[in-house]
Amino acid sequence: MGRLVYINGKFVKEEEAYISIFDRGFLFSDAIYEVTAVIDKKLVSWEGHLNRLRYSLSELNIKFSYSDEELFSIHKKLIVQNKINEGLVYLQISRGKAERDFAFPKPEVEPTIVLFTQIKNLINNPKINFGSKVISSPDLRWGRTDIKTVQLLYASIMKQKALDLGKDDVWFENNKLITEGSSNNTFIISNNGTLITRSLSTKILPGITRKSILEYAKKANFNIEEKPFTIEDTKNAKEAFSCSSTTFIMPVVEIDDCKIGSGTPGKHTLELRKLYIKNVRKELI
Ligand code: PDD
Repeated sequence: MGRLVYINGKFVKEEEAYISIFDRGFLFSDAIYEVTAVIDKKLVSWEGHLNRLRYSLSELNIKFSYSDEELFSIHKKLIVQNKINEGLVYLQISRGKAERDFAFPKPEVEPTIVLFTQIKNLINNPKINFGSKVISSPDLRWGRTDIKTVQLLYASIMKQKALDLGKDDVWFENNKLITEGSSNNTFIISNNGTLITRSLSTKILPGITRKSILEYAKKANFNIEEKPFTIEDTKNAKEAFSCSSTTFIMPVVEIDDCKIGSGTPGKHTLELRKLYIKNVRKELI
């Protein structure tokens, strides 16, 4: 495909980018990542992604020396070189390569950093017109899903299960309460029009899209409640949606074979999607 990618200080063709089999990201999932959307050739909510990246690194005690400016300029160079008008920049940082040992390497090793781009239709995603059908499943992921680590196997298995069942995605639940989706945060809109999303804790990723939606919705005078909700609440809701950097706002029209509202993308959801895109466009860098 000939994309330019970034690996440990160098921009190289994707075919030339290799990491060691001793990399701890490969052996232990000892790595964190970010996915930042690009629209109009610019980064969406860059500051938010940068702050979360620093949080993940600090929670795992990975010492990483790149400055914010260096990270920004690598993103920008990849966008320009790979001609990304709309798409994603993926960034991953692992603790680095060391002899296989559960204990962290001593002395510390240099972290491994890789970035690549993906072209993706984010704004005119045809899937928005149909919405997503989800299944629920117990949340069997580890207990620190607030850290954006690359331990994504359970989410990947359950996403595939949903697809095998002819559905689109999975919403996880813990003690009957929805935590989040396989790779997105979740919202419902109650019959009186209140926007409800689970409050932040160690059980969900603090989504950057979620944060922006709450900010824009508040300004637009939506009633908002940050509180947990159940599968039953979702079945009885007027509308539901998931949100992430890869979909922005995706209407959710069915859960566990039960239609949500009319079973088609909801009016408020589509309105919020427009509001999100309009506002986020003003903050691109
Ligand atoms: N995933 N929750 C989980 C578990 C996620 O993996 C993601 C994002 C989100 C939404 O976060 P944000 O709004 O910051 O993208 C919530 C990315 C897109 C991925 O793994 O591809």
